[in-house]
Amino acid sequence: MSPDTAPILSVSEVVKRFVLRRTLGDRLARRPGLTQTAVDHVSFELAHGEILGLAGGSGSGKTTLARMLIRLVEPDEGRIIFRGSDVRDAGGRGLREVRRQMQMVFQDPYSSLNPRMRVGAAILEAGRVHHQPGAENGTSFVERILDLVRLPASAAQRRPQELSGGQRQRVAIARALAVGPEVLIADEAVSALDVSIQTQLLNLFLDLRDELGLSIIFVAHQLSVIAEVADRVAIMHEGRIVEIGSTVDVFHHPTHDYTRALLAAHPHPRPPAPTGGVA
Ligand SMILES: Nc1ncnc2c1ncn2[C@@H]1O[C@H](COP(=O)(O)OP(=O)(O)OP(=O)(O)O)[C@@H](O)[C@H]1O
Ligand SMILES: [Mg+2]
Repeated sequence: MSPDTAPILSVSEVVKRFVLRRTLGDRLARRPGLTQTAVDHVSFELAHGEILGLAGGSGSGKTTLARMLIRLVEPDEGRIIFRGSDVRDAGGRGLREVRRQMQMVFQDPYSSLNPRMRVGAAILEAGRVHHQPGAENGTSFVERILDLVRLPASAAQRRPQELSGGQRQRVAIARALAVGPEVLIADEAVSALDVSIQTQLLNLFLDLRDELGLSIIFVAHQLSVIAEVADRVAIMHEGRIVEIGSTVDVFHHPTHDYTRALLAAHPHPRPPAPTGGVA
């Protein structure tokens, strides 16, 4: 495989078990206690410039898998090869660099935004911490990043609580972009928003992929959201990827019973564009 076609991220056989309960008897006998396998030998690849959807019911392991990619949750087994190196081997500075290059966007923008900090200051801080080019010229850096997320320059003076939910999510994306990532991991990033605002944000993710060449992992329990944005989709069930393929194929010709059940429970996903593909 030539370097150009090599995936930016290659995940193989990752496992996460959570200890549910460890009794005194377990401790004395040095038994691990009752565990639950939240992610069970999951493998997938993410191509450069690809948007991979991750769908599945509540508790299927989507968030655990997403967080393991940057070791916010430590994997128990498996390999996570990002740009040629295993994320699991990364130490202090290496792990910080992995976390700069793979940025997470969460459902609740408040979790990543300081409510007391104005938007411009938050963007600038992120850029400066990671020595991003241009971050020393405050205003133009902030304006450029705000422009990427289609917010006016005046948004720099606002605080998060003065913004609408959609605007706030744009700011969270802006802050992620300010550090110059190559991958965005969006975990239910539009799930809490109205459908019309959702569509605007999904279009933003598509534009960012095209303009910046970002690769995106898009976690969502709403299949309609995945249908609008993802080139390929992985369906998770009980910690495993039960089906993975192009979004058009999986939604129109599901091969796994669970995928069929999921589609039957969400009967009207907005159909993916027939021309959708990896840019
Ligand atoms: N820190 C934890 N400790 C123990 N169990 C956990 C922990 N985090 C997740 N789990 C369990 O792992 C399983 C997978 O959870 P996860 O949050 O990854 O699912 P999800 O697919 O993101 O669900 P949702 O759609 O509700 O966000 C669940 O059974 C959950 O209870
Ligand atoms: Mg989740």
